[in-house]
Amino acid sequence: MTRHLDAPEVDSVRPLAPQEFEQIRQLAYRTFGLDLKSGKEELVSARLRKLVRGGGFHSFQDYYRSILHDRSGESLLAMIDALATNHTSFLREPDHFQFLRDQVIPELGTRDPIELWSAACSTGEEVWTLAMVLNESLPHRRVRIAASDISNKALSFAQRAVYPVERCHGVSAAWLSRYFAADGRPPMSYRIAPALRAQVSFTRLNLIESYSWPHAFPIIFCRNVMIYFDRPTQERVIAGLSRHLEPGGYLFVGHAESLTRVSHSLEFVRPAVYRKAGKKEARWNK
Ligand SMILES: C[S@@+](CC[C@H](N)C(=O)[O-])C[C@H]1O[C@@H](n2cnc3c(N)ncnc32)[C@H](O)[C@@H]1O
Repeated sequence: MTRHLDAPEVDSVRPLAPQEFEQIRQLAYRTFGLDLKSGKEELVSARLRKLVRGGGFHSFQDYYRSILHDRSGESLLAMIDALATNHTSFLREPDHFQFLRDQVIPELGTRDPIELWSAACSTGEEVWTLAMVLNESLPHRRVRIAASDISNKALSFAQRAVYPVERCHGVSAAWLSRYFAADGRPPMSYRIAPALRAQVSFTRLNLIESYSWPHAFPIIFCRNVMIYFDRPTQERVIAGLSRHLEPGGYLFVGHAESLTRVSHSLEFVRPAVYRKAGKKEARWNK
């Protein structure tokens, strides 16, 4: 039978039941730390419905079971992609970049290369902002940025490095001409220039699992991800980040992510900026 064009599409997926929400909540918490509090039922239903329908399932329960049975892990990754919030922008929380420029970069001494980690980089705007700030301040230094996220979808977007013009509004005309290549006339999108792209390597990394980098970093940005975690998970994540900071190194978190009620070993520098105690290596300016 063909559906009349004006007739509403009948959704064959049964509404999300409380015990289904609970199963998905626990799975998201276990696998990537997401703390879905009660009240988030509608959000979960809206974000997963397409996957449930697309997989041909009639209930969230069947969909949930299929994730557990999928040994490839692909369905779980797709669920994580759908549930994670990827919102970000160029120069987000601009005082962080001002502080980086005015305070942190001068402390870096003559080190070369300069290595940074953007943990939970989402679609890349934070990474490219960091690259542009460093290239502006230290044009002759080698910059290496490790960029990571749990979401493959966000990472491939970041790696492609093409941004529709409306996502570049915060970027100055000078930076657009120096660090981007315009596509279309007038520009419809901008692509990050090859010289900057060559300074960044992307890795899939789950902050709640154990991981290790071959070296520690003088600067780590991990912003606007811990806001989705509960306190024990935040403590675990901060402990992992602290292990990968050099003594004297700086951790930037989101302004909405005060660590006041989280136990950690870092020193408070200013809102949303922390530092690892200890003697700095010789390559820092004292
Ligand atoms: C709101 S975005 C933040 C992007 C950027 N840092 C900023 O502040 O604009 C949060 C990112 O955290 C990622 N994320 C969520 N859980 C994660 C986990 N357990 N490990 C690593 N990344 C995670 C999401 O995929 C998402 O891209």
